[in-house]
Amino acid sequence: MSGAPAASDAVPAQAAGQPGVPRHVAIIMDGNGRWAKKRFLPRVAGHRAGADALRRTLRAAVTAGIEVLTLYAFSSENWRRPAAEIADLMGLLRHYIRAEIDELAEAGIRLRIIGDYRRFEPDVVALVDEAMARTAANRRATLVIALNYGAQDEIVRAVQAIVAEGIAPATIDPSTIAARLDTADLPPLDLLIRTSGERRLSNFLLWQAAYAELLFVDTLWPDFDAAALNAAVADFAGRERRYGGL
Ligand code: IPE
Ligand code: IPE
Ligand code: MG
Repeated sequence: MSGAPAASDAVPAQAAGQPGVPRHVAIIMDGNGRWAKKRFLPRVAGHRAGADALRRTLRAAVTAGIEVLTLYAFSSENWRRPAAEIADLMGLLRHYIRAEIDELAEAGIRLRIIGDYRRFEPDVVALVDEAMARTAANRRATLVIALNYGAQDEIVRAVQAIVAEGIAPATIDPSTIAARLDTADLPPLDLLIRTSGERRLSNFLLWQAAYAELLFVDTLWPDFDAAALNAAVADFAGRERRYGGL
C-alpha cells in the first residue's frame, strides 16, 4: 500500500443540501403484484396503484427538500415476465408520461432516465426523449426513472466506453468508471429504500450504493405515501455515516 487512495465519488467531499435531509434517495418500488393479489385484483391494478404512489412520493420528496429521487420502474431482468404484463407496464409508462409531463414541467422538475431505455418500443422512446428535453432546464428537483436498468449492464456499458476511448489501464480509477455510468452527473446516493419486505438489491445501483444507507420496509409500494417517505428521511437523519473512517 502506498499513499492515500484516490478520492472516490462514493465519498462526497462535503455534505451539501439541508442537514439531515438526503440529497439523493432511490427506491426499489416493489410489491405491486402482492398488493393486487391481497385484493383479488389483477396484477395490473397493483401497477396502476403503484403509479399513484409514485406521484404522491415525488410530491413528498420535493416538499422534504430531496434533490434527486431515483425510482426503479423496470429492470433489465423484468423482460422475464409474461408478455402481457410487460405490455401493461409499457402502457402505464406511456400513460404516466403523457399525464404528468405538464405538471412536472410546471413544477420545475427535471426528468432523467437511467438504463438502456432505447430498447423499448419506438413510441415510448420518443415520448421519454421529448419529456426529458422539455424538462432539461428545470432545477427544483430531479426525477430519475430507471427503465430497462440493470447495474451490471450499466457497468458493462461503462467498461465498453472506457475501452472504446482507448484509456490507458494504469490511469483508470473509480472516477473513470463513475463518469461513464448513467448516473454520472447526479449527486452521490444517500438513501436506498426497498418496499415490500424483500431484502435484496435486484441489480439496482450496485456501484452507487457503496456507501448509501439502506432501508428495507414491509410496506407494499402501492401503500407508500408522504408519511412513509418522511419516516424514511427521519431514519436516515439518525444514521452515522463513517465512510470507513472514525
Ligand atoms: C414492482 O412490483 C413493480 C415492477 C417490478 C415493475 P412487482 O410487480 O414486482 O410486485 P410483486 O413483487 O410481484 O408483489
Ligand atoms: C425489482 O423488483 C425491480 C423493480 C422494482 C422495477 P423485482 O420484483 O423485479 O425483483 P425480484 O425479482 O423480486 O428480485
Ligand atoms: Mg417484485
